[in-house]
Amino acid sequence: MAGKIVVLGTGGTIAGTSDVPGASVGYTAGQLGIAQLLAAVPQLAQAARGPLVAEQLAQVDSKDMTHALWERLVQRCLVHLADETVAGIVITHGTDTLEETAWLLHNLLPTHKPVVLTSAMRPATALAPDGPQNLLDAVALAAEPDAHGVLAVAAGVVHGAREVAKMHPLRLDAFASGDGGPLGWMDAGPVRWAHARAPEASVPRHGGLAARLGQLAWPRVQIVLSHAGADGSVVDALVTAGVVDGLVAAATGNGTLHQELEQALTRAAAAGVAVCVASRCPQGRMLALPPDAPWSSAPGLSPVKARVSLMLQLMDR
Ligand code: SIN
Repeated sequence: MAGKIVVLGTGGTIAGTSDVPGASVGYTAGQLGIAQLLAAVPQLAQAARGPLVAEQLAQVDSKDMTHALWERLVQRCLVHLADETVAGIVITHGTDTLEETAWLLHNLLPTHKPVVLTSAMRPATALAPDGPQNLLDAVALAAEPDAHGVLAVAAGVVHGAREVAKMHPLRLDAFASGDGGPLGWMDAGPVRWAHARAPEASVPRHGGLAARLGQLAWPRVQIVLSHAGADGSVVDALVTAGVVDGLVAAATGNGTLHQELEQALTRAAAAGVAVCVASRCPQGRMLALPPDAPWSSAPGLSPVKARVSLMLQLMDR
């Protein structure tokens, strides 16, 4: 018999409901249980190719995602991935911070098995909800023998954890994968991989950290934005208050910073704060800073993903 697919529910619009019949906006996220979401899609049994089991981890609007919930999610993924009867995991998640969770899991989970995040832009009570199809696609992808590592699927498009980003506040195809494009598509049935082949599984950068996560404090890492008229006041205030271990500077273009912000970051680095620069441009990839630069850089990562990486680096040293 094929392996089990485990579906972990965390909330989001996919589990959202509205008091206004059929409404697509003005709803409350994280209302329906994962068992209810699965029961609404009878085709899941066939897509899973084997047993399908559900576990409710949380019911949050993902704008309110916490480090504690991340820890629990990692811990449950580790348990299920170590179970040889499990073929893959699906995580239902809000769209708002899905890309951060995907990047976290990609960096922590030592697995070749697929871990597929899915979501919805419309609540379950909408006139035409997108959640049921997304859930079906996610389960089919998790049961796909070629699928490896952390993936996201929504609106029929498969994205990798590094590239996936929410690009639109309302559209059903809210996610994109930047210059590289998606990894594949769920048209009708099995996945159609881009370039006619599944991507290789990668080794997680902080795989050794996953099991220790609950024993460590999360570093306090904030994001500061370089913009017209920027100054160093926020950075100076954070450093003076002693409430920050790391700073991600969301830089203009190819990693450039307003001179006032740059001076404040130089003071922060001298005070022992870890500084990392990531471009605020949503497409393309800034060039890496030279080795003698005063701080690190995160080419190809958005500031929110660079923040996840910096936290993991600080925890893993
Ligand atoms: C959320 O992120 O939990 C709410 C928004 C959404 O899922 O689209």
